[in-house]
Formats: sequence, C-alpha cells, structure tokens
Amino acid sequence: MIPRTPKAKLDILRLLAQGGFHSGEEIGKTLGISRAAVSKHIKGIHEWGVEIFSLQGKGYQLAEPMTLLDAERIASDTHAPVMLHPVIDSTNQYLLNQVDSLESGTTCIAEYQSQGRGRRGRQWVSPFGANLYLSMYWRLEAGMAAAMGLSLVVGVAVVEALESLGVADVKLKWPNDLYYQDKKLAGILVELSGQAGGAAHLVIGMGMNIAMSEQIPGIDQPWVSLKQVIEEHENHPLRLTQGDVDRNQLCVAFINAWQTALRDYEEQGMHGFVERWNRIDNFLNRPIKLIMGQREISGISRGINEQGAVLIETEQGVEAHIGGEISLRGL
Ligand code: ATP
Ligand code: BTN
Repeated sequence: MIPRTPKAKLDILRLLAQGGFHSGEEIGKTLGISRAAVSKHIKGIHEWGVEIFSLQGKGYQLAEPMTLLDAERIASDTHAPVMLHPVIDSTNQYLLNQVDSLESGTTCIAEYQSQGRGRRGRQWVSPFGANLYLSMYWRLEAGMAAAMGLSLVVGVAVVEALESLGVADVKLKWPNDLYYQDKKLAGILVELSGQAGGAAHLVIGMGMNIAMSEQIPGIDQPWVSLKQVIEEHENHPLRLTQGDVDRNQLCVAFINAWQTALRDYEEQGMHGFVERWNRIDNFLNRPIKLIMGQREISGISRGINEQGAVLIETEQGVEAHIGGEISLRGL
C-alpha cells in the first residue's frame, strides 16, 4: 500500500537535501504553509528516522548529507521499468499485490518503508533516505522448485556488482545475507506470490544499509553501513561531493546485475554459481551451527552444492541442508 503522498514532508526533505540551514520561515514561504506546520512536518520527518539539527535563529539542517533517489536516472541506465515510491509499507508487498499486471523485471524502490520485513515476518529497519530498499518482480519459468537457487544467485550478483564498483571484502551468509567483517550489511528476501501454468511469480527484495545512523533502534545483531565499508578510500568512486554514497549508481548496478544473473540462472541453473558463491562465502571452512526449529547442528561450513543447499561437515561426514526454516550462525 502506498500511503497518501506526504508531499509537504518530501518537499521539505528536498529543500534540506540541498545542504546548509533552512529557516522555518523560508521553508514555510517556499511551501506556502505556516511555521507551525513546518515544525509539525519536521517532527514527522524525524519519525521516519531522519536526524535533523534545529538551531535557534538558523533553522533546520540534515545531520547527514542526503542525495535523494532519482527514478528517471535509474530507469534511463537500466532496462527495467522502475517505480519510485518514496514512502511505502514494503516494496516487496507492493509488487506482490500486483504480479498479474507486471512485466518480469519490474523494479520498485523506496526511500522509507513503514513495514519493511525480513525472513519469517521479522522487521527490517528502514529509515528514510539512509539505505536502499529495492524489489524486483521475476517470473521464473522453471517454477517454484528453482526458487531456492535463485535466491542465492541474486546475492552473488550483488557482491560481484559491489566488487566491480571498487568495494572489496563483502561476503555472503547462506541463504541470502551480505556481510562485511562479520556484520550484516544487507539482507535479501525472496517471496513467492503463486504459480500459474508452471511459472513461479517471485518478488526479490533487498535492503542494504548505506549510511544508517548508529543510534537507530530495533536491530538485535551486529550490522554495518556501506559508508563505513568505503571509509578508508578517500576518493572512492561511490562517494558524492557532499560525502554521501551514490545510491542511484548502486541501484543501477544492482538492477542490471540481478537481471543478468537471473537470465543466466534460467539458462544454466546453478552451474557456475556454486564456485562463484563459495569464493565469497563468509563462513567457508569456519565453525558454524545450523538452527532448524528446536534442532541444532554444529560443524564446519563447506559452502553450497548445485541444489543450493548449505553443506556442513560433522563427525558423520558432509551433510546438505536446505529449506526456508534454517538459520546459520557463526560459532
Ligand atoms: P536468518 O535469516 O539466518 O534467520 P537473521 O537474524 O539475519 O537470520 P533475517 O530475518 O534474515 O534474520 O533478518 C531480520 C533481522 O535482521 C532482524 O531480526 C534484525 O535483527 C536484523 N535487521 C533488521 N533491520 C536491519 C537492518 N537495516 N540492517 C541490519 N540488520 C537488520
Ligand atoms: C533479511 O535479511 O531477512 C531480508 C531483509 C529484506 C529487506 C528488504 S528491503 C526491500 C524489501 N522489502 C521488504 O519489506 N523487505 C525487503
């Protein structure tokens, strides 16, 4: 669901995104609203997770620089229909609601999700403008059985796309989390809307932390933002003049990488992807445990197989495990 367009808040954010201080009076004049209304909207923007400094006599300023997403630019550099909804409940849910009328490859991006979700209904923390929330609808002719492999393939595509943009050392945690130095950078959620005539209607969604405030509540595991990952490189190509990270360039790169990987997967299945996965597996040859409901298995991680199952070596030998209810944890 797209909430009623919060036009005034978005207009204020566009003004503040230009940088510097903007007085309540100036904002009010530009938008044709009172200063009291400006102050109310600033509170609402704060509730979206945006930090704003407010200084007597000077006005309001963003705590962190922000370059907003630009749907036109993204659409012109990709071959996918791209929909930008700055404020939405969940980009995955938005596409799931309308798979019947979508072209395969259609992408939805947002600046803020009020009900971003992870696996098994867990919350995905989605403050405004700080991260990427990107979903793509894909019609998979091979049907549901092939969906597991597909969810691994898109993770490989994202890490490789980051590498080609000069971001090294991002790794994968089975089945589809991105890690940097054992901290969660991004999560991927593949959801199935149904099957028609053998084809599966899938929505692939990714949330990647780009410049999230360290004070953000609600995350109960170590996490990292891409901004920190590229911090050592002063002139990193993803850095914009204000110092923030170029989310538009990242969107283009990820959409293109997903489309290529999904087509390759449809033609060749997991062939070739197993080696690509294992090269960037965060836990390869490290001690791990697999949690399956009440059951836990500890052993050494040995990557994945051609079915997309995770391999764990125990005293009984190497076992393959697959299924949406499994969680992998490092030991
Ligand atoms: P697994 O998928 O292996 O069961 P997980 O703990 O990563 O493990 P997910 O459902 O994949 O679980 O992701 C949801 C979890 O991710 C939330 O419970 C929360 O701890 C964490 N999380 C939520 N938002 C973010 C975010 N923006 N960045 C990093 N982690 C987040
Ligand atoms: C996970 O690690 O559990 C997966 C998190 C997936 C989050 C993304 S953000 C874009 C898309 N919309 C959602 O509601 N979830 C996914």
